[in-house]
Amino acid sequence: MTQVATVLGIESSCDDTAAAVVRGVPGNMEVLSSVVFGQADLHSDFGGVVPEIAARAHAERLDMSVAQALEQAGIGLCDIDAIAATCGPGLIGGVVAGVMTAKGLSAATGKPLYGINHLAGHALTPRLSSGIAFPYLMLLVSGGHCQFLIARGPDDFKRLGGTIDDAPGEAFDKVARLIGLGQPGGPAIETIAQDGEAKRFAFPRPLSNKPGCDLSFSGLKTAVLRARDDIIAKQGGLTVRDQADLAASFQAAVTDSLAGKAKRALEVYLDLAPVIPTFCVAGGVAANMTIRTVLETVCAEANVAFDAPPLALCTDNAAMIAAAGIEQMRLRAPDGMDLSARPRMPLDTKSTAMLGSGKKGAKA
Ligand code: KG4
Ligand code: ZN
Repeated sequence: MTQVATVLGIESSCDDTAAAVVRGVPGNMEVLSSVVFGQADLHSDFGGVVPEIAARAHAERLDMSVAQALEQAGIGLCDIDAIAATCGPGLIGGVVAGVMTAKGLSAATGKPLYGINHLAGHALTPRLSSGIAFPYLMLLVSGGHCQFLIARGPDDFKRLGGTIDDAPGEAFDKVARLIGLGQPGGPAIETIAQDGEAKRFAFPRPLSNKPGCDLSFSGLKTAVLRARDDIIAKQGGLTVRDQADLAASFQAAVTDSLAGKAKRALEVYLDLAPVIPTFCVAGGVAANMTIRTVLETVCAEANVAFDAPPLALCTDNAAMIAAAGIEQMRLRAPDGMDLSARPRMPLDTKSTAMLGSGKKGAKA
C-alpha cells in the first residue's frame, strides 16, 4: 500500500515528554514537527531519573506537547490518520501517561490507535532519516539501551546480543561522577579525554574473549573506581591529568568493546547477503566521535555502509514513534482500548530476555 499517512506520535517512556507529526509512506517519510520537553532539571539533584517525578511531569506536559506538535505541523487532530504511542518498555508511570493520552485522543476523534515498542522506534529511525532498506544491522547505544539488532522488517528484529548489565551511556555517566566530572557524563568524558593518555590504565574489555555479541560494562566501571581510589590513596586527590587519563582509558575500553562486538555482529549480518549492506548506530552514545569513527572504520573494512541518524532523532523523540506507526499501519489492525503499558517489552521475543535494569529505565 502506498497511501500517504499522517501520524501523531507520543513518547513518554523515560525522561523526555515528546509529541511529533510524521507524514509519508514506509521508507519515505517527513517529520512535520517534533516537540521534546526534557526533564533533566527535575532529576539532576538525584543522580538518576526518579520514576514518580518523571510520571508526574509527563502527565502535566503531554497535552501541551501534542498541542504544540500539531500547531507546528500546521494541522489539526482531524487531519491525522492515526495516533501512535510508546507502550513499553520504560518507566511504567510515564508509559501509562502516554498510553492514556493516546487512548483519550483516539476515543475522542475515532482515529486508530497503535501501541509502539520504544526500541522499535529507535531501531526503525534509519528508515525515517535515510529510507534505509531492510535488512540492516543496528546498534542501539544509549543511557538505557545497548543491543545489536538485525532489522529484517518493521516488526521483525533479530537480537544478536547486548549488554548483560549497564548500558554504555549509563557507564559514561557513572564514571564521570566517579572522577568528578559533570552530567551528562558522555560529553564530559569525551571532552576531557581529548587531552588524556588512553594507554595509562589497562582497563578490561569484558566478554571480549567470549563468543557472541554480548557486552558488559559494570566491571569496567569498577576498574575505574579502583584506579581512582589507588590514585587518591597515593596523592590525596585527582589532578586534571589523572581525570583526563582515566576518562581516555575508559573511553578506549568502551570503544574497543563496541568495535569488537560490531565486527562479530557484521559477520552474522553479512551471512544474510543483504543487497545494500548497512550498519546503523543510534542513541545518545552515538554522538561520541571516537566511538563513531572507530565503528565507521570497522564498517569500511567490511565494505558495509555506515549510517547514523541526526542526533535529534537518535535520542528519545516522538517522531520515531510516529514513523514506526506509519510502518505498523501497513502490517496490522489498530490496537483497542485494552492496549496496556508494559515496563518490559523485548523487541525480539524469540531471544532470551536481557538482564538488568538501568537508571534510565527497564532494559528489554
Ligand atoms: O539516547 P539518550 O539521549 O537517552 C537514553 O538513554 O534513552 O542517551 C543519553 C546517554 C547519556 O548516558 C549520555 O551520557 C550519553 O548518552 N552520551 C554520550 C555522549 N553524548 C551523550 N556518551 C558518550 N559520548 C558522548 N558524546
Ligand atoms: Zn530510548
